[in-house]
Amino acid sequence: MNTSTLDALRQALPGLKLLSEPADLEHYGRDWTRRWTPAPLAIALPATAEEIQAVVRWANLHGVAIVPSGGRTGLSGGAVAANGELVVSLERMNRVVGFDAVDRTLTVQPGIALEAVHNAARERGLIYPVDFGARGSCQIGGNIATNAGGIRVIRYGNTRNWIAGLDVITGSGERLSLNRGLIKNATGYDLRHLFIGSEGTLGIVVEATLALTDAPPPSQVLLFAVPHMDALMQVFGACRSRLTLSAFEFFTDRALHHVVAHGAQNPFAGISPYYVVTEFDAEQEAQQTEALAVFEYCLERGWVTDGVIAQSEAQAKSLWRLREGITESLAPHKPYKNDISVRIAAVPGFLHDMQALLSREYPDFDVVWFGHIGDGNLHINIVKPDGYDYAAFIAECERVTERLCEVLQVHGGSISAEHGIGLVKKPYLGSARSAEEIALMRGIRTVFDPNGIMNPGKLF
Ligand code: FAD
Ligand code: MLT
Ligand code: ZN
Repeated sequence: MNTSTLDALRQALPGLKLLSEPADLEHYGRDWTRRWTPAPLAIALPATAEEIQAVVRWANLHGVAIVPSGGRTGLSGGAVAANGELVVSLERMNRVVGFDAVDRTLTVQPGIALEAVHNAARERGLIYPVDFGARGSCQIGGNIATNAGGIRVIRYGNTRNWIAGLDVITGSGERLSLNRGLIKNATGYDLRHLFIGSEGTLGIVVEATLALTDAPPPSQVLLFAVPHMDALMQVFGACRSRLTLSAFEFFTDRALHHVVAHGAQNPFAGISPYYVVTEFDAEQEAQQTEALAVFEYCLERGWVTDGVIAQSEAQAKSLWRLREGITESLAPHKPYKNDISVRIAAVPGFLHDMQALLSREYPDFDVVWFGHIGDGNLHINIVKPDGYDYAAFIAECERVTERLCEVLQVHGGSISAEHGIGLVKKPYLGSARSAEEIALMRGIRTVFDPNGIMNPGKLF
């Protein structure tokens, strides 16, 4: 640890809460990737936007790199601090600071957990619709910095759609109020959108105004057993054309194996290669009857072989656990994660090419597929065999990811759908963005962060 730098910070900002015990450095220096050894300088826990601004200004003067840190549930290494950076944790800034019933907006500090945002919206008779498994620990600032997606994108879109205003401290220490909750604002470049998905490389989100919406009508959850890959998108087509969907997710038998080993209940007696969990509006009996008709239709065509419709909220939760529990069930194995997307129309062709690639390149590894197939977003997790050297395993997965990029390029897809580039996907950015685009992005980064102190080494 560089004690003189830390002493200088203590002297410059005596009121700032700082942690520097080894256990703190380890805890705050990593995210869910667990691939890098945490080694931050220290952890700053500011309580106000003014304190953040002072920290950023001090860091500029002393050439100290900053890693903005949310709930550290990130899966790409964006919040990893492994090179003596100052981690700026937003966890103390976790309050709702305003609600406007006319605008239907909720203004929050960046460190509020996604689930707390859901609760705050519900208490006010509305919803904040972005949702996914890490809801209890990820923070809205992290969601904004990664443009998080999740299980409701099919209906509501990504985080980007729900950000009405942002307050940020740029890498050079200026405070900007971007868009201020306006629905219409045709005044040139919308800098708010540059910050969404910028992975902490342009500055720190210090306040966000979130758009809320009406709660959807009561819904039902259906789990299908799907006998072959082509049927996945056929079932999707049938469901989407006849039901009002709020989720359409899939997973494979290998994913089911892991999540059941982790405590989830499999409602089926037999094994199927694929499964779909879908949720749809079911306020009226006619909608429920239509769902059964869709099931019959798919059954007759051999697109599904079995199905369960949740009869209670508890059963709906238990069906959802089969999908949402997968990440946690795999985490002890430290899987190598691909988070890829293609256009919905390209999914069937892409699935074939991808399956051919993965069975050719990973003959001995456990390959676990799941994800938001209704958005064209697949999560491919590779599980390290016991006894296989970890570094060799990562090298092998990186080699195959190069090939995967080629397949993605053929189908016009992306190497990161929703988790961000961070450290994990940095080598592959050029497969999804042109050299000209990357040069422009670098230029933008320099405008907001001329001294390069914001999350250096991430994204590029
Ligand atoms: P962190 O991991 O702390 O940080 C992520 C990035 O944001 C880093 O680059 C960090 O520097 C930056 N950052 C954090 N806070 C700020 C701030 N205030 N200002 C500027 N930059 C900041 N993601 C999805 O998109 N969809 C899913 O379905 C999904 N499911 C998940 C399920 C599980 C079980 C887990 C563990 C993760 C899942 N994720 C998912 C990934 C992760 O939860 C999201 O990327 C989430 O948005 C990260 O939020 P966080 O607060 O944990 O951010
Ligand atoms: C999910 O959809 O469950 C997440 O994005 C997490 C993951 O990919 O592991
Ligand atoms: Zn996901």
